[in-house]
Amino acid sequence: MRKILDIITANMRQAFSDAGYDASFGNVTVSNRPDLCEYQCNGALAAAKQYKCAPIQIANAVVAKLDANDYDMVEAVMPGFINLKLSGSFLQKYLEEMRTADDFGVEKIGAGKLCVVDYGGANVAKPLHIGHLRPAIIGEALKRLYKFMGYNTIGDVHLGDWGLQMGLIVAELHERQPDLPYFDPNFTGEYPDEAPFTLSELEEIYPTASAKKKDNAEFAEKAHIATYELQQGHRGYRAIWNHIMRVSLADLHRIYDLLDVHFEKWLGESDADPYIPAMIQRLKDEGHAVMSEGALVFPVAEENDKKEVPPCILVKSDGAAIYATTDLATMVQRMQDWNPDKMLYVTDKRQNLHFEQVFRAAKKGGIVKPETELEHVGHGTMNGKDGKPFKTRDGGVLRLEQLIGDMTDFVRSKVVENRIVSDDEVEETTAKIALAALKYGDLSNQPTKDYNFDLERFAAFEGNTGPYILYTIVRVKSILAKFGAWEHLSIQAPTNASAKDLMLAITKLGPTLEFALNTSSPNQICAYIYDLAGCVNKFYHETRILGEEDQDLKNGYIALIGLAKRILEECIHILGFSAPEKM
Ligand code: ARG
Repeated sequence: MRKILDIITANMRQAFSDAGYDASFGNVTVSNRPDLCEYQCNGALAAAKQYKCAPIQIANAVVAKLDANDYDMVEAVMPGFINLKLSGSFLQKYLEEMRTADDFGVEKIGAGKLCVVDYGGANVAKPLHIGHLRPAIIGEALKRLYKFMGYNTIGDVHLGDWGLQMGLIVAELHERQPDLPYFDPNFTGEYPDEAPFTLSELEEIYPTASAKKKDNAEFAEKAHIATYELQQGHRGYRAIWNHIMRVSLADLHRIYDLLDVHFEKWLGESDADPYIPAMIQRLKDEGHAVMSEGALVFPVAEENDKKEVPPCILVKSDGAAIYATTDLATMVQRMQDWNPDKMLYVTDKRQNLHFEQVFRAAKKGGIVKPETELEHVGHGTMNGKDGKPFKTRDGGVLRLEQLIGDMTDFVRSKVVENRIVSDDEVEETTAKIALAALKYGDLSNQPTKDYNFDLERFAAFEGNTGPYILYTIVRVKSILAKFGAWEHLSIQAPTNASAKDLMLAITKLGPTLEFALNTSSPNQICAYIYDLAGCVNKFYHETRILGEEDQDLKNGYIALIGLAKRILEECIHILGFSAPEKM
Protein backbone atom coordinates (compact mmCIF):
# COMPACT_ATOMS: atom_id res chain seq x y z
CA MET A 1 0.00 0.00 0.00
CA ARG A 2 1.12 3.52 -0.67
CA LYS A 3 1.99 5.54 2.41
CA ILE A 4 -0.45 8.30 3.31
CA LEU A 5 2.24 10.90 2.87
CA ASP A 6 2.89 9.64 -0.65
CA ILE A 7 -0.80 9.72 -1.50
CA ILE A 8 -1.40 13.24 -0.29
CA THR A 9 1.86 14.45 -1.77
CA ALA A 10 0.79 13.05 -5.14
CA ASN A 11 -2.58 14.81 -4.79
CA MET A 12 -0.90 18.04 -3.77
CA ARG A 13 1.48 17.91 -6.74
CA GLN A 14 -1.47 17.38 -9.01
CA ALA A 15 -3.21 20.37 -7.44
CA PHE A 16 -0.14 22.57 -7.96
CA SER A 17 -0.02 21.49 -11.53
CA ASP A 18 -3.78 21.95 -12.06
CA ALA A 19 -3.44 25.45 -10.66
CA GLY A 20 -0.72 26.18 -13.20
CA TYR A 21 2.36 25.76 -11.02
CA ASP A 22 5.18 23.29 -11.10
CA ALA A 23 4.17 19.99 -9.46
CA SER A 24 7.51 19.73 -7.66
CA PHE A 25 6.35 22.33 -5.15
CA GLY A 26 3.70 19.95 -3.83
CA ASN A 27 5.68 18.16 -1.12
CA VAL A 28 3.68 17.40 2.01
CA THR A 29 5.14 16.75 5.45
CA VAL A 30 3.74 15.61 8.76
CA SER A 31 2.75 18.76 10.60
CA ASN A 32 5.13 20.22 13.13
CA ARG A 33 2.12 21.96 14.70
CA PRO A 34 -0.23 19.07 15.51
CA ASP A 35 -2.46 21.55 17.34
CA LEU A 36 -3.22 23.24 14.01
CA CYS A 37 -3.20 20.43 11.48
CA GLU A 38 -2.09 16.89 10.73
CA TYR A 39 -0.15 17.50 7.52
CA GLN A 40 1.19 20.59 5.85
CA CYS A 41 2.62 21.82 2.58
CA ASN A 42 4.97 24.79 2.45
CA GLY A 43 5.52 24.66 -1.29
CA ALA A 44 3.65 27.88 -2.06
CA LEU A 45 6.34 29.86 -0.25
CA ALA A 46 9.06 28.53 -2.52
CA ALA A 47 6.85 28.74 -5.59
CA ALA A 48 6.15 32.42 -4.90
CA LYS A 49 9.82 33.24 -5.51
CA GLN A 50 9.77 31.56 -8.90
CA TYR A 51 6.40 32.91 -10.00
CA LYS A 52 6.96 36.33 -8.42
CA CYS A 53 3.65 36.64 -6.66
CA ALA A 54 2.28 36.40 -3.12
CA PRO A 55 2.55 32.91 -1.62
CA ILE A 56 -0.99 33.08 -0.24
CA GLN A 57 -2.32 33.62 -3.73
CA ILE A 58 -0.69 30.36 -4.86
CA ALA A 59 -1.79 28.53 -1.72
CA ASN A 60 -5.39 29.59 -2.29
CA ALA A 61 -5.32 28.52 -5.91
CA VAL A 62 -3.89 25.14 -5.01
CA VAL A 63 -6.37 24.55 -2.20
CA ALA A 64 -9.21 25.13 -4.63
CA LYS A 65 -7.93 22.25 -6.74
CA LEU A 66 -7.73 19.66 -3.95
CA ASP A 67 -10.45 17.06 -3.56
CA ALA A 68 -12.42 18.30 -0.56
CA ASN A 69 -13.68 14.79 0.23
CA ASP A 70 -10.20 13.82 1.37
CA TYR A 71 -9.97 16.50 4.01
CA ASP A 72 -11.83 17.69 7.07
CA MET A 73 -9.85 20.86 6.77
CA VAL A 74 -7.73 22.28 4.01
CA GLU A 75 -6.66 25.81 4.63
CA ALA A 76 -4.37 28.34 3.08
CA VAL A 77 -2.98 30.44 5.90
CA MET A 78 -0.69 33.45 5.90
CA PRO A 79 1.91 33.85 4.62
CA GLY A 80 1.21 30.84 2.37
CA PHE A 81 1.09 27.57 4.27
CA ILE A 82 -1.38 24.89 3.33
CA ASN A 83 -2.68 23.09 6.43
CA LEU A 84 -4.48 19.79 6.15
CA LYS A 85 -6.58 17.52 8.27
CA LEU A 86 -7.58 14.24 6.72
CA SER A 87 -11.24 13.41 6.47
CA GLY A 88 -12.89 10.55 8.30
CA SER A 89 -13.83 8.92 5.02
CA PHE A 90 -10.25 9.08 3.80
CA LEU A 91 -9.02 7.41 6.99
CA GLN A 92 -11.82 4.89 6.95
CA LYS A 93 -10.93 3.78 3.44
CA TYR A 94 -7.22 3.67 4.21
CA LEU A 95 -7.59 1.66 7.41
CA GLU A 96 -10.05 -0.74 5.85
CA GLU A 97 -7.45 -1.43 3.20
CA MET A 98 -4.82 -1.98 5.90
CA ARG A 99 -7.18 -4.27 7.77
CA THR A 100 -7.84 -6.51 4.82
CA ALA A 101 -4.37 -6.51 3.23
CA ASP A 102 -1.64 -9.02 4.05
CA ASP A 103 0.64 -7.64 6.77
CA PHE A 104 -1.42 -4.45 6.94
CA GLY A 105 -0.36 -3.48 3.44
CA VAL A 106 3.15 -2.57 4.55
CA GLU A 107 5.38 -2.31 1.50
CA LYS A 108 7.85 -5.21 1.28
CA ILE A 109 10.97 -3.21 0.56
CA GLY A 110 13.22 -6.25 0.98
CA ALA A 111 11.37 -8.56 -1.39
CA GLY A 112 13.77 -10.85 -3.23
CA LYS A 113 16.75 -9.89 -1.09
CA LEU A 114 18.68 -11.90 1.45
CA CYS A 115 20.12 -10.43 4.63
CA VAL A 116 22.44 -12.37 6.94
CA VAL A 117 22.18 -11.09 10.49
CA ASP A 118 25.25 -11.89 12.57
CA TYR A 119 24.32 -11.44 16.21
CA GLY A 120 24.54 -13.03 19.61
CA GLY A 121 28.28 -13.65 19.35
CA ALA A 122 28.42 -16.14 22.22
CA ASN A 123 31.72 -17.76 23.12
CA VAL A 124 31.74 -21.45 23.94
CA ALA A 125 33.04 -22.65 27.30
CA LYS A 126 32.06 -19.33 28.84
CA PRO A 127 28.65 -18.63 30.32
CA LEU A 128 26.59 -15.92 28.67
CA HIS A 129 26.85 -12.77 30.74
CA ILE A 130 24.97 -9.49 30.71
CA GLY A 131 27.18 -8.22 27.90
CA HIS A 132 25.46 -10.75 25.65
CA LEU A 133 21.98 -9.40 26.31
CA ARG A 134 22.01 -6.49 23.91
CA PRO A 135 23.47 -8.19 20.82
CA ALA A 136 20.93 -11.00 21.30
CA ILE A 137 17.90 -8.77 21.79
CA ILE A 138 18.73 -6.11 19.21
CA GLY A 139 19.89 -8.66 16.65
CA GLU A 140 16.77 -10.76 17.00
CA ALA A 141 14.53 -7.68 16.65
CA LEU A 142 16.37 -6.44 13.57
CA LYS A 143 16.26 -9.88 11.99
CA ARG A 144 12.50 -10.11 12.57
CA LEU A 145 12.06 -6.58 11.21
CA TYR A 146 13.98 -7.45 8.05
CA LYS A 147 11.86 -10.52 7.67
CA PHE A 148 8.62 -8.60 8.08
CA MET A 149 9.81 -6.11 5.47
CA GLY A 150 10.15 -8.89 2.94
CA TYR A 151 13.78 -9.92 3.20
CA ASN A 152 14.85 -13.49 3.42
CA THR A 153 16.93 -13.68 6.55
CA ILE A 154 19.55 -15.96 8.04
CA GLY A 155 20.53 -15.36 11.64
CA ASP A 156 23.98 -16.68 12.49
CA VAL A 157 25.28 -16.70 16.06
CA HIS A 158 28.92 -16.71 14.92
CA LEU A 159 30.24 -18.58 17.94
CA GLY A 160 33.61 -17.82 19.39
CA ASP A 161 34.69 -21.46 19.23
CA TRP A 162 38.22 -21.32 17.88
CA GLY A 163 41.62 -20.00 18.65
CA LEU A 164 43.51 -19.57 21.89
CA GLN A 165 40.49 -19.91 24.16
CA MET A 166 40.20 -23.53 23.03
CA GLY A 167 43.92 -24.19 23.37
CA LEU A 168 43.83 -22.87 26.92
CA ILE A 169 41.16 -25.36 27.89
CA VAL A 170 43.05 -28.24 26.30
CA ALA A 171 46.25 -27.23 28.09
CA GLU A 172 44.52 -26.84 31.46
CA LEU A 173 42.75 -30.16 31.08
CA HIS A 174 46.08 -31.77 30.36
CA GLU A 175 47.51 -30.43 33.60
CA ARG A 176 44.54 -31.71 35.57
CA GLN A 177 43.97 -35.07 33.94
CA PRO A 178 47.11 -36.05 32.02
CA ASP A 179 46.05 -39.68 31.83
CA LEU A 180 43.02 -39.05 29.62
CA PRO A 181 43.25 -40.93 26.30
CA TYR A 182 43.06 -37.63 24.38
CA PHE A 183 46.60 -36.89 25.45
CA ASP A 184 48.00 -40.36 24.66
CA PRO A 185 49.70 -40.20 21.25
CA ASN A 186 49.53 -44.00 20.97
CA PHE A 187 45.82 -44.20 21.58
CA THR A 188 44.04 -45.41 18.47
CA GLY A 189 40.69 -46.55 19.90
CA GLU A 190 37.37 -44.75 20.13
CA TYR A 191 37.33 -41.80 22.52
CA PRO A 192 34.67 -41.81 25.26
CA ASP A 193 31.23 -40.36 24.46
CA GLU A 194 31.08 -38.74 27.85
CA ALA A 195 32.90 -35.41 28.26
CA PRO A 196 35.68 -35.40 30.88
CA PHE A 197 34.07 -32.34 32.51
CA THR A 198 30.65 -31.01 33.43
CA LEU A 199 29.33 -27.65 32.32
CA SER A 200 30.20 -25.99 35.61
CA GLU A 201 33.70 -27.49 35.58
CA LEU A 202 34.16 -26.26 32.04
CA GLU A 203 33.04 -22.78 33.05
CA GLU A 204 35.66 -22.81 35.79
CA ILE A 205 38.45 -24.29 33.65
CA TYR A 206 38.49 -21.46 31.13
CA PRO A 207 38.88 -18.50 33.50
CA THR A 208 41.45 -20.40 35.54
CA ALA A 209 43.49 -21.15 32.42
CA SER A 210 43.08 -17.65 31.12
CA ALA A 211 44.40 -16.17 34.38
CA LYS A 212 47.23 -18.67 34.50
CA LYS A 213 48.60 -17.82 31.08
CA LYS A 214 49.20 -14.25 32.24
CA ASP A 215 51.86 -15.09 34.82
CA ASN A 216 53.00 -18.49 33.62
CA ALA A 217 54.94 -18.26 30.39
CA GLU A 218 55.44 -21.99 30.17
CA PHE A 219 51.72 -22.62 30.41
CA ALA A 220 51.01 -19.89 27.87
CA GLU A 221 53.39 -21.57 25.45
CA LYS A 222 51.71 -24.89 26.04
CA ALA A 223 48.32 -23.36 25.27
CA HIS A 224 49.64 -21.81 22.07
CA ILE A 225 50.97 -25.14 20.93
CA ALA A 226 47.70 -26.86 21.81
CA THR A 227 45.82 -24.22 19.81
CA TYR A 228 48.06 -24.76 16.84
CA GLU A 229 47.77 -28.54 17.03
CA LEU A 230 44.02 -28.39 17.43
CA GLN A 231 43.79 -26.24 14.31
CA GLN A 232 46.05 -28.70 12.49
CA GLY A 233 43.58 -31.45 13.27
CA HIS A 234 45.16 -33.25 16.29
CA ARG A 235 42.78 -36.16 16.80
CA GLY A 236 42.62 -36.14 20.60
CA TYR A 237 42.29 -32.35 20.81
CA ARG A 238 39.56 -32.41 18.19
CA ALA A 239 37.71 -34.90 20.40
CA ILE A 240 38.07 -32.59 23.42
CA TRP A 241 36.87 -29.70 21.27
CA ASN A 242 33.79 -31.73 20.31
CA HIS A 243 33.09 -32.34 24.00
CA ILE A 244 33.44 -28.63 24.76
CA MET A 245 31.07 -27.79 21.92
CA ARG A 246 28.42 -30.30 22.95
CA VAL A 247 28.41 -29.34 26.62
CA SER A 248 28.49 -25.64 25.88
CA LEU A 249 25.99 -25.51 23.04
CA ALA A 250 23.30 -27.28 25.03
CA ASP A 251 23.54 -24.54 27.61
CA LEU A 252 23.66 -21.71 25.07
CA HIS A 253 20.52 -23.07 23.40
CA ARG A 254 18.79 -23.16 26.75
CA ILE A 255 19.54 -19.52 27.61
CA TYR A 256 18.79 -18.14 24.14
CA ASP A 257 15.49 -20.04 24.26
CA LEU A 258 14.64 -18.24 27.49
CA LEU A 259 15.12 -15.00 25.59
CA ASP A 260 13.06 -16.22 22.64
CA VAL A 261 16.13 -15.68 20.49
CA HIS A 262 16.60 -18.22 17.73
CA PHE A 263 19.39 -18.63 15.23
CA GLU A 264 18.97 -20.31 11.88
CA LYS A 265 22.67 -21.11 11.86
CA TRP A 266 24.95 -22.04 14.73
CA LEU A 267 28.14 -21.56 12.78
CA GLY A 268 31.27 -20.34 14.42
CA GLU A 269 34.79 -19.14 13.89
CA SER A 270 35.86 -22.77 13.51
CA ASP A 271 33.64 -23.13 10.45
CA ALA A 272 35.50 -20.29 8.80
CA ASP A 273 38.86 -21.93 9.33
CA PRO A 274 38.87 -24.09 6.17
CA TYR A 275 38.39 -20.96 4.04
CA ILE A 276 41.39 -19.14 5.45
CA PRO A 277 44.35 -20.61 3.49
CA ALA A 278 42.90 -20.06 0.00
CA MET A 279 41.65 -16.62 0.95
CA ILE A 280 45.04 -15.57 2.30
CA GLN A 281 46.77 -16.93 -0.76
CA ARG A 282 44.52 -15.01 -3.11
CA LEU A 283 44.87 -11.77 -1.15
CA LYS A 284 48.64 -12.18 -1.33
CA ASP A 285 48.64 -13.03 -5.02
CA GLU A 286 46.52 -10.02 -5.83
CA GLY A 287 48.78 -7.75 -3.82
CA HIS A 288 46.22 -6.80 -1.17
CA ALA A 289 48.05 -8.51 1.66
CA VAL A 290 51.59 -7.45 2.45
CA MET A 291 54.20 -8.25 5.10
CA SER A 292 54.71 -5.70 7.81
CA GLU A 293 56.87 -6.27 10.88
CA GLY A 294 56.58 -10.02 10.49
CA ALA A 295 52.82 -10.00 10.18
CA LEU A 296 50.68 -10.30 7.09
CA VAL A 297 48.45 -7.24 6.88
CA PHE A 298 45.85 -5.72 4.59
CA PRO A 299 46.22 -1.92 4.49
CA VAL A 300 42.81 -0.29 4.47
CA ALA A 301 43.53 3.37 5.21
CA GLU A 302 41.86 5.87 2.87
CA GLU A 303 42.86 9.34 1.84
CA ASN A 304 39.96 11.10 3.50
CA ASP A 305 40.19 9.29 6.85
CA LYS A 306 39.78 11.71 9.72
CA LYS A 307 41.30 9.29 12.19
CA GLU A 308 43.88 6.65 11.56
CA VAL A 309 42.53 3.33 10.32
CA PRO A 310 45.29 0.80 10.90
CA PRO A 311 45.80 -2.13 8.53
CA CYS A 312 43.73 -5.22 9.06
CA ILE A 313 45.98 -7.95 10.48
CA LEU A 314 45.47 -11.28 8.72
CA VAL A 315 48.27 -13.42 10.11
CA LYS A 316 50.20 -12.44 13.22
CA SER A 317 53.98 -12.79 13.37
CA ASP A 318 53.54 -16.06 15.31
CA GLY A 319 51.53 -17.51 12.41
CA ALA A 320 48.12 -17.33 14.11
CA ALA A 321 45.06 -16.16 12.26
CA ILE A 322 42.96 -13.77 14.31
CA TYR A 323 39.50 -12.27 14.77
CA ALA A 324 39.57 -10.23 11.55
CA THR A 325 40.82 -13.20 9.57
CA THR A 326 37.94 -15.39 10.69
CA ASP A 327 35.43 -12.62 10.01
CA LEU A 328 36.74 -12.25 6.46
CA ALA A 329 36.81 -16.01 5.91
CA THR A 330 33.25 -16.18 7.25
CA MET A 331 32.26 -13.73 4.54
CA VAL A 332 33.86 -16.02 1.96
CA GLN A 333 31.71 -18.86 3.26
CA ARG A 334 28.54 -16.75 3.31
CA MET A 335 29.05 -15.42 -0.21
CA GLN A 336 29.78 -18.89 -1.51
CA ASP A 337 26.91 -20.68 0.24
CA TRP A 338 24.21 -18.04 0.45
CA ASN A 339 25.22 -15.07 -1.72
CA PRO A 340 23.46 -12.50 0.49
CA ASP A 341 22.63 -8.95 -0.60
CA LYS A 342 23.46 -7.69 2.85
CA MET A 343 25.31 -8.68 6.00
CA LEU A 344 24.32 -6.98 9.21
CA TYR A 345 26.45 -7.35 12.34
CA VAL A 346 25.23 -6.52 15.83
CA THR A 347 27.98 -6.22 18.43
CA ASP A 348 29.26 -3.88 21.09
CA LYS A 349 30.23 -0.53 19.58
CA ARG A 350 33.73 -0.99 20.96
CA GLN A 351 34.18 -3.22 17.91
CA ASN A 352 33.46 -0.33 15.51
CA LEU A 353 37.03 -0.09 14.28
CA HIS A 354 37.30 -3.85 13.78
CA PHE A 355 34.28 -3.83 11.48
CA GLU A 356 35.45 -0.73 9.67
CA GLN A 357 38.70 -2.53 8.86
CA VAL A 358 37.02 -5.82 7.97
CA PHE A 359 34.40 -4.17 5.74
CA ARG A 360 37.02 -2.19 3.88
CA ALA A 361 39.18 -5.27 3.40
CA ALA A 362 36.16 -7.28 2.22
CA LYS A 363 35.33 -4.67 -0.43
CA LYS A 364 38.87 -3.91 -1.55
CA GLY A 365 39.84 -7.57 -1.59
CA GLY A 366 36.78 -8.60 -3.60
CA ILE A 367 35.56 -10.95 -0.85
CA VAL A 368 32.10 -9.47 -1.26
CA LYS A 369 30.59 -7.84 -4.32
CA PRO A 370 30.84 -4.08 -4.75
CA GLU A 371 27.09 -3.86 -4.18
CA THR A 372 26.95 -6.17 -1.14
CA GLU A 373 25.77 -4.07 1.77
CA LEU A 374 27.76 -4.38 4.96
CA GLU A 375 26.45 -2.76 8.11
CA HIS A 376 27.63 -2.82 11.68
CA VAL A 377 25.18 -1.89 14.42
CA GLY A 378 27.41 -1.06 17.36
CA HIS A 379 25.40 -1.01 20.55
CA GLY A 380 26.14 0.84 23.77
CA THR A 381 26.56 -0.61 27.23
CA MET A 382 23.89 -1.64 29.68
CA ASN A 383 24.85 -0.15 33.04
CA GLY A 384 23.46 -0.62 36.53
CA LYS A 385 20.62 1.49 37.86
CA ASP A 386 23.19 3.97 39.22
CA GLY A 387 24.74 4.40 35.77
CA LYS A 388 27.91 2.55 36.79
CA PRO A 389 29.04 -0.68 35.14
CA PHE A 390 26.81 -3.56 36.08
CA LYS A 391 28.53 -5.73 38.69
CA THR A 392 27.46 -8.50 41.04
CA ARG A 393 27.74 -7.87 44.76
CA ASP A 394 31.22 -9.37 44.83
CA GLY A 395 32.28 -7.27 41.86
CA GLY A 396 32.01 -10.03 39.24
CA VAL A 397 30.22 -10.09 35.93
CA LEU A 398 26.55 -10.98 36.21
CA ARG A 399 25.42 -14.03 34.33
CA LEU A 400 22.69 -13.50 31.79
CA GLU A 401 20.72 -16.33 33.34
CA GLN A 402 20.88 -14.58 36.69
CA LEU A 403 19.61 -11.33 35.20
CA ILE A 404 16.69 -13.12 33.54
CA GLY A 405 16.05 -14.93 36.81
CA ASP A 406 16.01 -11.71 38.85
CA MET A 407 13.52 -10.12 36.47
CA THR A 408 11.39 -13.27 36.47
CA ASP A 409 11.32 -13.44 40.29
CA PHE A 410 10.31 -9.81 40.56
CA VAL A 411 7.53 -10.16 37.99
CA ARG A 412 6.34 -13.43 39.51
CA SER A 413 5.86 -11.81 42.89
CA LYS A 414 3.66 -9.16 41.26
CA VAL A 415 1.68 -11.74 39.32
CA VAL A 416 1.08 -13.77 42.46
CA GLU A 417 0.35 -10.77 44.66
CA ASN A 418 -2.18 -9.29 42.23
CA ARG A 419 -3.81 -12.72 41.75
CA ILE A 420 -3.65 -12.19 38.03
CA VAL A 421 -4.00 -15.79 36.92
CA SER A 422 -4.67 -19.22 38.39
CA ASP A 423 -1.75 -21.07 39.94
CA ASP A 424 -1.03 -23.24 36.94
CA GLU A 425 -0.73 -20.20 34.67
CA VAL A 426 1.61 -18.20 36.88
CA GLU A 427 4.83 -19.36 35.24
CA GLU A 428 3.76 -18.80 31.65
CA THR A 429 2.28 -15.39 32.36
CA THR A 430 5.33 -14.39 34.40
CA ALA A 431 7.73 -15.46 31.66
CA LYS A 432 5.90 -13.39 29.06
CA ILE A 433 5.76 -10.25 31.18
CA ALA A 434 9.36 -10.60 32.31
CA LEU A 435 10.57 -10.99 28.74
CA ALA A 436 8.60 -7.95 27.66
CA ALA A 437 10.05 -5.93 30.54
CA LEU A 438 13.60 -6.97 29.72
CA LYS A 439 13.39 -6.58 25.96
CA TYR A 440 11.35 -3.39 25.81
CA GLY A 441 13.56 -1.86 28.52
CA ASP A 442 16.47 -2.44 26.19
CA LEU A 443 14.94 -1.86 22.78
CA SER A 444 13.22 1.39 23.69
CA ASN A 445 16.70 2.92 23.82
CA GLN A 446 18.55 3.85 20.69
CA PRO A 447 20.95 0.91 20.15
CA THR A 448 24.07 3.09 20.03
CA LYS A 449 23.37 4.71 23.41
CA ASP A 450 24.19 3.33 26.85
CA TYR A 451 21.30 2.80 29.22
CA ASN A 452 20.73 1.96 32.87
CA PHE A 453 19.06 -1.28 33.80
CA ASP A 454 16.23 -0.54 36.22
CA LEU A 455 14.33 -3.67 37.08
CA GLU A 456 11.42 -2.02 38.90
CA ARG A 457 10.92 0.61 36.24
CA PHE A 458 11.16 -1.83 33.32
CA ALA A 459 8.64 -4.16 34.98
CA ALA A 460 6.09 -1.47 35.87
CA PHE A 461 2.64 -1.91 34.39
CA GLU A 462 2.35 1.83 33.76
CA GLY A 463 4.64 4.16 31.85
CA ASN A 464 6.73 3.54 28.79
CA THR A 465 7.34 -0.16 29.46
CA GLY A 466 6.87 -3.56 27.89
CA PRO A 467 4.29 -4.64 30.48
CA TYR A 468 2.22 -1.50 29.75
CA ILE A 469 2.07 -2.48 26.08
CA LEU A 470 1.07 -6.03 27.05
CA TYR A 471 -1.53 -4.66 29.42
CA THR A 472 -3.10 -2.66 26.60
CA ILE A 473 -3.22 -5.71 24.35
CA VAL A 474 -4.73 -7.83 27.11
CA ARG A 475 -7.37 -5.19 27.78
CA VAL A 476 -8.41 -5.16 24.12
CA LYS A 477 -8.36 -8.94 23.97
CA SER A 478 -10.77 -9.08 26.87
CA ILE A 479 -13.18 -6.59 25.25
CA LEU A 480 -13.06 -8.57 22.02
CA ALA A 481 -13.67 -11.81 23.88
CA LYS A 482 -16.75 -10.31 25.51
CA PHE A 483 -17.98 -9.04 22.17
CA GLY A 484 -17.65 -12.29 20.22
CA ALA A 485 -16.61 -12.78 16.58
CA TRP A 486 -15.11 -9.52 15.35
CA GLU A 487 -12.60 -10.40 12.63
CA HIS A 488 -15.07 -9.75 9.79
CA LEU A 489 -16.14 -6.27 10.93
CA SER A 490 -15.11 -3.29 8.80
CA ILE A 491 -13.55 -0.03 9.83
CA GLN A 492 -15.83 2.99 10.00
CA ALA A 493 -15.21 6.72 9.89
CA PRO A 494 -14.23 8.16 13.29
CA THR A 495 -16.99 9.64 15.45
CA ASN A 496 -14.83 11.40 17.99
CA ALA A 497 -11.39 12.94 18.34
CA SER A 498 -9.81 10.01 20.15
CA ALA A 499 -11.03 7.62 17.45
CA LYS A 500 -9.45 9.84 14.83
CA ASP A 501 -6.18 10.07 16.74
CA LEU A 502 -6.11 6.31 17.01
CA MET A 503 -6.74 5.98 13.28
CA LEU A 504 -3.98 8.46 12.46
CA ALA A 505 -1.59 6.57 14.73
CA ILE A 506 -2.41 3.31 12.98
CA THR A 507 -1.59 4.78 9.57
CA LYS A 508 1.99 5.42 10.69
CA LEU A 509 2.82 1.70 10.86
CA GLY A 510 4.40 1.38 7.42
CA PRO A 511 6.53 4.55 7.58
CA THR A 512 7.68 3.65 11.10
CA LEU A 513 8.82 0.15 10.20
CA GLU A 514 10.61 1.40 7.13
CA PHE A 515 12.37 4.12 9.08
CA ALA A 516 13.29 1.66 11.85
CA LEU A 517 14.86 -0.63 9.28
CA ASN A 518 16.70 2.10 7.42
CA THR A 519 18.18 3.47 10.64
CA SER A 520 18.55 0.12 12.46
CA SER A 521 16.48 1.52 15.31
CA PRO A 522 14.03 -0.87 16.94
CA ASN A 523 13.44 2.00 19.40
CA GLN A 524 11.33 3.62 16.65
CA ILE A 525 8.96 0.68 16.85
CA CYS A 526 8.82 1.00 20.64
CA ALA A 527 7.97 4.70 20.38
CA TYR A 528 5.31 3.87 17.81
CA ILE A 529 3.57 1.22 19.90
CA TYR A 530 3.79 3.35 23.01
CA ASP A 531 1.94 6.10 21.15
CA LEU A 532 -0.49 3.62 19.65
CA ALA A 533 -1.20 2.02 23.03
CA GLY A 534 -1.81 5.48 24.47
CA CYS A 535 -4.31 6.20 21.70
CA VAL A 536 -6.06 2.87 22.31
CA ASN A 537 -6.38 3.57 26.03
CA LYS A 538 -7.61 7.10 25.47
CA PHE A 539 -10.18 5.88 23.00
CA TYR A 540 -11.26 3.18 25.46
CA HIS A 541 -11.69 5.72 28.26
CA GLU A 542 -13.58 8.22 26.14
CA THR A 543 -15.86 5.87 24.27
CA ARG A 544 -18.57 3.49 25.43
CA ILE A 545 -17.61 0.48 23.40
CA LEU A 546 -19.47 -2.59 24.61
CA GLY A 547 -22.20 -0.37 26.08
CA GLU A 548 -22.89 1.38 22.78
CA GLU A 549 -26.49 0.77 21.74
CA ASP A 550 -26.16 1.57 18.05
CA GLN A 551 -24.95 -1.77 16.70
CA ASP A 552 -23.25 -0.25 13.64
CA LEU A 553 -21.26 2.18 15.72
CA LYS A 554 -20.33 -0.56 18.12
CA ASN A 555 -19.16 -2.80 15.29
CA GLY A 556 -16.99 0.03 14.01
CA TYR A 557 -15.41 0.58 17.43
CA ILE A 558 -14.69 -3.10 17.76
CA ALA A 559 -13.16 -3.28 14.28
CA LEU A 560 -10.93 -0.34 15.14
CA ILE A 561 -9.57 -1.70 18.42
CA GLY A 562 -9.28 -5.13 16.82
CA LEU A 563 -7.03 -3.68 14.12
CA ALA A 564 -5.00 -1.79 16.74
CA LYS A 565 -4.56 -5.00 18.72
CA ARG A 566 -3.39 -6.95 15.69
CA ILE A 567 -0.85 -4.24 14.91
CA LEU A 568 0.40 -4.10 18.50
CA GLU A 569 0.79 -7.86 18.49
CA GLU A 570 2.67 -7.81 15.20
CA CYS A 571 5.01 -5.10 16.48
CA ILE A 572 5.82 -6.89 19.72
CA HIS A 573 6.39 -10.04 17.72
CA ILE A 574 8.97 -8.12 15.71
CA LEU A 575 10.52 -6.85 18.95
CA GLY A 576 10.66 -10.44 20.15
CA PHE A 577 8.02 -10.93 22.83
CA SER A 578 4.35 -11.78 23.12
CA ALA A 579 1.31 -11.01 25.27
CA PRO A 580 -0.31 -13.31 27.82
CA GLU A 581 -4.06 -13.94 27.94
CA LYS A 582 -4.57 -12.18 31.24
CA MET A 583 -2.71 -9.57 33.19
N1 ARG B 1 32.44 -13.62 19.94
C1 ARG B 1 32.68 -12.23 19.74
C2 ARG B 1 32.89 -11.52 21.08
O1 ARG B 1 32.63 -12.07 22.12
C3 ARG B 1 31.52 -11.55 19.04
C4 ARG B 1 31.30 -12.02 17.64
C5 ARG B 1 30.58 -11.00 16.82
N2 ARG B 1 30.43 -11.34 15.43
C6 ARG B 1 31.39 -11.28 14.52
N3 ARG B 1 31.13 -11.68 13.31
N4 ARG B 1 32.59 -10.82 14.81
O2 ARG B 1 33.37 -10.41 21.08
